[in-house]
Amino acid sequence: MSASLQAHRGAVLYFTDDPRDGDGSGQVVHHEDGLLVVEHGRVQAVGPADALLATLPADITLIDHGSDLLMPGLIDTHIHFPQTEVIGSGGRQLLDWLDDYVFAVERRFGDPAYAREVAEVFLDELLRNGTTTALVFCTVHKTSVDAFFAAAARRGLRMIAGKVLMDRNCPEYLRDTADDGARETRELIEAWHGTERLSVAITPRFAPTSTPEQLAAAGRLAAEYPSTYIHSHLAENPSEIAWVRELFPERRSYLDVYDHYGLLRERAVYAHAIHLDQTDRRRMADCGACAAHSPTSNLYLGSGLFDFDASDAAGLRFGVATDVGGGTSFSMLRTLGEAYKVAQMKGQRLTPLRAFYLATLGNARILQLQDRIGTFAPGSEADFIAVDLQATPLLARRLRACRTLSEKLLVLMTLGDERAVRQTYIGGNEAVIHDQNES
Ligand code: GUN
Ligand code: ZN
Repeated sequence: MSASLQAHRGAVLYFTDDPRDGDGSGQVVHHEDGLLVVEHGRVQAVGPADALLATLPADITLIDHGSDLLMPGLIDTHIHFPQTEVIGSGGRQLLDWLDDYVFAVERRFGDPAYAREVAEVFLDELLRNGTTTALVFCTVHKTSVDAFFAAAARRGLRMIAGKVLMDRNCPEYLRDTADDGARETRELIEAWHGTERLSVAITPRFAPTSTPEQLAAAGRLAAEYPSTYIHSHLAENPSEIAWVRELFPERRSYLDVYDHYGLLRERAVYAHAIHLDQTDRRRMADCGACAAHSPTSNLYLGSGLFDFDASDAAGLRFGVATDVGGGTSFSMLRTLGEAYKVAQMKGQRLTPLRAFYLATLGNARILQLQDRIGTFAPGSEADFIAVDLQATPLLARRLRACRTLSEKLLVLMTLGDERAVRQTYIGGNEAVIHDQNES
């Protein structure tokens, strides 16, 4: 038997479908004493430890994770790598926050050396938090995307990223043009899309910072390269929405701007999608476009509360995301905890089972990567994490008192953060994470 065959023993958890508000029977796979068998970077088998071990060669490499929870690597469906540098800046709302903090920081990514440095810090932070795949905004500078992809490729990560398109209503120093932005995006697609584990997203920042010409060019690219992603922001903040109405008075709604320019399709992911009506939500659902709910950002920037029930009623698929640096944490565990509170504020319910589904298989589905990540189905890529359920005294104490898996997961998403992520595995290998303070 190949020396690359490895068996990880621990409590195994993954999802096969959306448990919605049910008890998870039929959608959750949970083995208290489970085994995850990995070979050549892929899941070869998964199941109860005793039964599976009996079928494996006696000399297999066995890694015992004790009581740790083994689950698929967490997925973040909306994050800005340059905004690692702005988390916790100012308390103003979206448009002022962009003007006062974000644009000045993004300017610095015109320097490739700086972009390379922050890309490493960002990837270390993701991996420390157990996030193994993300849909990532870079900056308007093409070199920021090259720096990001090169860093992700060196670590063997599955990542999706794109060059920001913005040719108006932003500082001159961050502006591209419709032609240059499209040409550079095309060059990035040709250079990176489908290489290693990388994919490119066509990334108009949001409707206010693109001319109609630029949005049209983005739509043409999206049609020409259907396997690329579309990644932008939508209906986050009331002032932003009023501005879109002024800039595009002929369009029925903010969403209709993107629709008009051919930017709604499968693999289109729109962050926030808070202030929509049901016509918008149904239209997104019909096109296969998805929303990325970003609770820590929505609370930090005072943007509003995502409507889970209205989205479900319209069939609009949504994922969960950090939106660092409007978002205040890289941790998907903390993000799930805040999503739970957003639902509470709406008088709605996000069950802990559904929350963990969203951060794994649900987000993989948003990205149409459900056959590769977010699951332990045999054949999938072995990106996974070991979660230490005793990472802090309080977590250990609270979890001891829990009877059901749901109760445990709710405690984990309420108290957990990167301290609970003991190890992150990429393609079956333990990820190397640098402590930037030591370098
Ligand atoms: N809308 C346009 N740009 C941004 C951004 O950088 N962050 C957030 N949260 N919303 C945006
Ligand atoms: Zn964002």
